[in-house]
Amino acid sequence: MDNVKISWFWLSVLILCFSLYAHPSLGADKITSNQSLSGDQTIVSACGIFRLGFFKPSNSSNYYVGMWYNKVSVQTIVWVANRDTPVSDTTAAKLTISGGNLVLFNESQMPVWSTNLNSASSSSVEAVLLDSGNLVLRQDTSSEFLWQSFDHPTHTWLPGGKLKLDTRTKQPNYLTSWKNSENPAPGLFSLELDPKETTSYLILWNKSQQYWSSGRWNGQIFSEVPEMMGNRLYNTTFVSDSNESYFTYNMYNTSIMSRFVMDVSGKIKQFIWSEASEQWTLIWSQPRRQCEVYDLCGAFGSCDENSLTFCNCLTGFEPKLQNDWNLNDYSGGCQRKTQLQCESSNPSSGKNDRFLAMSNMKLPQHSQSVGVGNAGECETTCLSNCSCTAYAYDSNGCSIWSGDLLNLQQSSQDDSSGKTLYLKLAASEFSDSKGNKRIVIGIVVGAVVVVGVLLAIFVFPMLRRRRRKKATGLEGTLMVFGYRDLRNATKNFSEKLGRGGFGSVFKGTLPDSSVIAVKKLESVGQGEKQFRAEVITIGTVQHVNLVRLRGFCSEGTKKLLVYDYMPNSSLDSHLFRQKNPNVLDWELRYQIALGTARGLNYLHDKCRDCIIHCDIKPENILLDADFRPKVADFGMAKLVGRDFSRVLTNMRGTRGYLAPEWLSGLAITSKADVYSYGMMLFELVSGRRNSELSEDGQVKFFPALAANIVSQGGDVVSVLDPRLNGNADIEELTRMIKVASWCTQDEEAHRPAMGQVVQMLEGVLDVNLPPVPRALQIFVHNQQNRVFFTDSNSAQSQAISNISSSSSKS
Ligand SMILES: *[C@@H]1O[C@H](CO)[C@@H](O)[C@H](O)[C@H]1NC(C)=O
Ligand SMILES: *[C@@H]1O[C@H](CO)[C@@H](O)[C@H](O)[C@H]1NC(C)=O
Ligand SMILES: *[C@@H]1O[C@H](CO)[C@@H](O)[C@H](O)[C@H]1NC(C)=O
Ligand SMILES: *[C@@H]1O[C@H](CO)[C@@H](O)[C@H](O)[C@H]1NC(C)=O
Ligand SMILES: *[C@@H]1O[C@H](CO)[C@@H](O)[C@H](O)[C@H]1NC(C)=O
Ligand SMILES: *[C@@H]1O[C@H](CO)[C@@H](O)[C@H](O)[C@H]1NC(C)=O
Ligand SMILES: *[C@@H]1O[C@H](CO)[C@@H](O)[C@H](O)[C@H]1NC(C)=O
Ligand SMILES: *[C@@H]1O[C@H](CO)[C@@H](O)[C@H](O)[C@H]1NC(C)=O
Repeated sequence: MDNVKISWFWLSVLILCFSLYAHPSLGADKITSNQSLSGDQTIVSACGIFRLGFFKPSNSSNYYVGMWYNKVSVQTIVWVANRDTPVSDTTAAKLTISGGNLVLFNESQMPVWSTNLNSASSSSVEAVLLDSGNLVLRQDTSSEFLWQSFDHPTHTWLPGGKLKLDTRTKQPNYLTSWKNSENPAPGLFSLELDPKETTSYLILWNKSQQYWSSGRWNGQIFSEVPEMMGNRLYNTTFVSDSNESYFTYNMYNTSIMSRFVMDVSGKIKQFIWSEASEQWTLIWSQPRRQCEVYDLCGAFGSCDENSLTFCNCLTGFEPKLQNDWNLNDYSGGCQRKTQLQCESSNPSSGKNDRFLAMSNMKLPQHSQSVGVGNAGECETTCLSNCSCTAYAYDSNGCSIWSGDLLNLQQSSQDDSSGKTLYLKLAASEFSDSKGNKRIVIGIVVGAVVVVGVLLAIFVFPMLRRRRRKKATGLEGTLMVFGYRDLRNATKNFSEKLGRGGFGSVFKGTLPDSSVIAVKKLESVGQGEKQFRAEVITIGTVQHVNLVRLRGFCSEGTKKLLVYDYMPNSSLDSHLFRQKNPNVLDWELRYQIALGTARGLNYLHDKCRDCIIHCDIKPENILLDADFRPKVADFGMAKLVGRDFSRVLTNMRGTRGYLAPEWLSGLAITSKADVYSYGMMLFELVSGRRNSELSEDGQVKFFPALAANIVSQGGDVVSVLDPRLNGNADIEELTRMIKVASWCTQDEEAHRPAMGQVVQMLEGVLDVNLPPVPRALQIFVHNQQNRVFFTDSNSAQSQAISNISSSSSKS
């Protein structure tokens, strides 16, 4: 293992200075011994890449010394000196060289941050900001660094930086999240190199509880991060000597700006700067699921993967620190709205505490089991001890929890592992509890009934006439609904069908008894006029394989879309729910593949403005009564006024369905849909997610296996969903895998257009043997026998020229 020497920095400085930025910045790049930085003074690295000075997080009154990108329009802090010790007056505070150290003095000239070197004494020390984003302390122009910020990262890992372990003291350098977006003080989540020297990175909560591991480094990838394979953005090097072990990474194209961040959400995220959209694009993050982050929602908070905010307080609880909660810092947790009766000063006032049944929960940690025989005794046990906060009773017997409930999770509806948790609450939290309130309610109800009858006789018919007029309003081919009509149709949004990136979907019935699906959009950023214009555009897009938009409602912030209801739900519910007894047979799967391709082809080519879907996955393929596929959710990105990178940022998974060009920051074309469609074809074949953890904890990446088998003329039935018992048309199966391999080629130009895919699946266009896509060159899970796939570019271009020259047989 060779050490990456500091010369790399100088090399990169030279390359950057002379090749990319012809005109170096005018500002100084260093603080020498007789200088200091105050107020809004800054220093800028030699080629103008990074800037260092005082900054103030938005909505904060505190100032910090930090480093940010000089040319990125959104101020992006990559390093902070005084995370814990802000200053409030930058004209009196100063950053200067003092006693051989770089020291920050606050407004009363007291040192609040220092590089803390004891040996240094020389007056000729200077601090230099390098173009790599490394702030270094050195003796004059010596190439030895006395101190460097790359040895003291805060929350960001830059290319060339190290995340190291001191091999002598076993002390890791932590990458630690900010407390929240307005406070750079160290938060609860940290990334470190495993102190047991296993070459794994770990993410810890409060530097104690581990909740994610990268797995070991095998020279090319971390074992739990298979998506690193096929990465053409940066290379990763592991360095280990008698003093330190660390990983460092370098961008192949040094003009692409990239950073890893330990985010306030508890995830490690990688971003690249997209010049075109002037935004940071999220290209990778782990852990995959937000709710895997340990104690994300604090005590008595519950994590829900499908909720836009992820954390919610349990019924009867409210956020303890509302301001932090609003800033997505949930660590303060939730507190009771009403004290438990057993805790109150007047315990004998008669009303007992009661239990609220919460179904479909993933139970919290640290339970105690109690040896009682039935649910009633379990409840009594919990009720009789005031420190008991919840209990659960199932086949494993009675479990009780005392004190704070941590790590509660709402299971998704199709996950049968959810349990029922009984939460202890004060009796007054139950709406039906107060006897004398009932009388009041009785009177009110009586009055309401009388008024209601009067209204029904005189006023409602008039209103109804009016509303009906409104409801049947037409805009283009679309119905314009009133909010109240939709609320009635969905019985006050009671039957939820699902939840997507843009909002929840509810089942409803119109007065003409036709069944509809109503999507309640969340956070629409469009103005009224533009929203209507976009809705009408979507409304004109009609095809037998696209879900039909019937109408919409737009009343202030209430934006709803009304679609035809699809009785057979979405494709994922048939493919991946192993317990679903009705297995989709091969013929249906093939028809679904073909229909989806036709729908996408229409979106890409046939309608007036080409629509790129950007989010093709089984969840967005709905099935009608005859299992005909209908593509859902097209045109949404434009409709809600977000560009595609925002959609990406909201994406929950990793690269599962994402084309590699999403990583490049370049413009996205319809070929990105082709890629995602290809990934979905692999799933139609296997009946499994394209990447999943097997029982022994290994990552299985199915497309690689399938692509390899078909390219070597192997037994294609071996990759077929075992639930089909080999019942498939072998020719169709082979064709489908070939098409999937073509669709998932790394280069956009090598992927077929959707129109060609339709022809291939129809059998009118021949499909040549595809090369195994490079992004799929991934080990198959067998530990002893890791198979790495290789491809040859010549084979690829040969094959692609074949595909474009093959002619239609029709
Ligand atoms: C700072 O010190 C250097 C040499 O020690 C000297 O050349 C320079 O003029 C000084 N600058 C100021 C602003 O005093
Ligand atoms: C700053 O605070 C105001 C009001 O407290 C809030 O409306 C605004 O969204 C905040 N800005 C940011 C960037 O958090
Ligand atoms: C400056 O720092 C010292 C030492 O940390 C602290 O006691 C003092 O209150 C600070 N002054 C101001 C104005 O914050
Ligand atoms: C984190 O750990 C420290 C001790 O290591 C403890 O004092 C502190 O309360 C913990 N923080 C939380 C939020 O539990
Ligand atoms: C990775 O990058 C370093 C520094 O640029 C270079 O020395 C090394 O050869 C690269 N390794 C690979 C496998 O490309
Ligand atoms: C380890 O550190 C010591 C001093 O701290 C230094 O003399 C030695 O060269 C270092 N070893 C390596 C392999 O860098
Ligand atoms: C490097 O990235 C820049 C900016 O994205 C791009 O303009 C340039 O063509 C790339 N260079 C290479 C060699 O790919
Ligand atoms: C109540 O539960 C707590 C925690 O399990 C336990 O320490 C305590 O002894 C119990 N009190 C009684 C009266 O059983």
